[in-house]
Amino acid sequence: MIVCRTKEELKSNLNQLRANEKSVGFVPTMGYLHEGHGSLLRLAHEANDISVLSIYVNPMQFGPNEDLDRYPRDEERDLKLAEECGTDIVFIPSNEEMYPKKPLTTVVVNGLTSQLCGATRPGHFDGVGLVVSKLFHLVKPDRAYFGMKDAQQVAVIEQIVDDLNFDIEIVPCQIVREPDGLALSSRNVYLNAEQRAGAVVLSQSLHLAEEWIKETGVTAGSLIERVKSHIGIAKEANIEYVELLHYPTLEPIEVNKYVGSITSRIILALAVKFGTTRLIDNSLLNTSGGANNV
Ligand code: PAF
Repeated sequence: MIVCRTKEELKSNLNQLRANEKSVGFVPTMGYLHEGHGSLLRLAHEANDISVLSIYVNPMQFGPNEDLDRYPRDEERDLKLAEECGTDIVFIPSNEEMYPKKPLTTVVVNGLTSQLCGATRPGHFDGVGLVVSKLFHLVKPDRAYFGMKDAQQVAVIEQIVDDLNFDIEIVPCQIVREPDGLALSSRNVYLNAEQRAGAVVLSQSLHLAEEWIKETGVTAGSLIERVKSHIGIAKEANIEYVELLHYPTLEPIEVNKYVGSITSRIILALAVKFGTTRLIDNSLLNTSGGANNV
């Protein structure tokens, strides 16, 4: 496994490995890798000749009062996991390497970024759009792998790829969960024992919603209310949003709409704070009698 810290190193190593039209699979991350990232890395390794991981905590996607300074980091552990997953190249740029000058270009995806996480994290998806576009230009992957826990991010990146003609297949990957259902996240490490125990209500409520939509006469509004009241069981849970939207357009669904009458893909997405830790989760609901996460 080759570790590159500059764009030049990345370019020359990729050029050597990519000779003979080899395919490149790319997993962009902010590090502090967990088994969710592990699953993306393994998929990238299995489906491509060369797999590339980037580890970069992108300051442009953090708001002024967010956790940029305390975002967890452990490069040694990350490199070990990457190696175990068969990763060929790891790109770990510094801020100076990624942004030698203040960028004057923005990548704003209208229509997909004013709701859900975009509503409470203004500018977040502009920062994601910019860094992912820069990374795509540097790595030039054939495929890029993203976890569906950040379903809005996947919708935004698919739109960027479409709008800007990136010749890249975006591969959305299933959410990986702890045995009790909590979606894996680098931020789970912030939770204290009581918050960690309470956080199980997120996946529980999604699972219950998958059952509730099989009942007749369930409206979008009543489903959201039931989900909110289940999350409310956890003592420290502070709901930021629970929303039911079309996916991937993220268009709203009227509260009076019978969920069973919707034939397109819909997403039940939630963000809940436990203390200062903000967790997100979601489920793509199958209104014809079941549900899945991809
Ligand atoms: O999902 C993440 O970890 C980040 O938003 C990403 C895609 C690596 C961009 O910084």
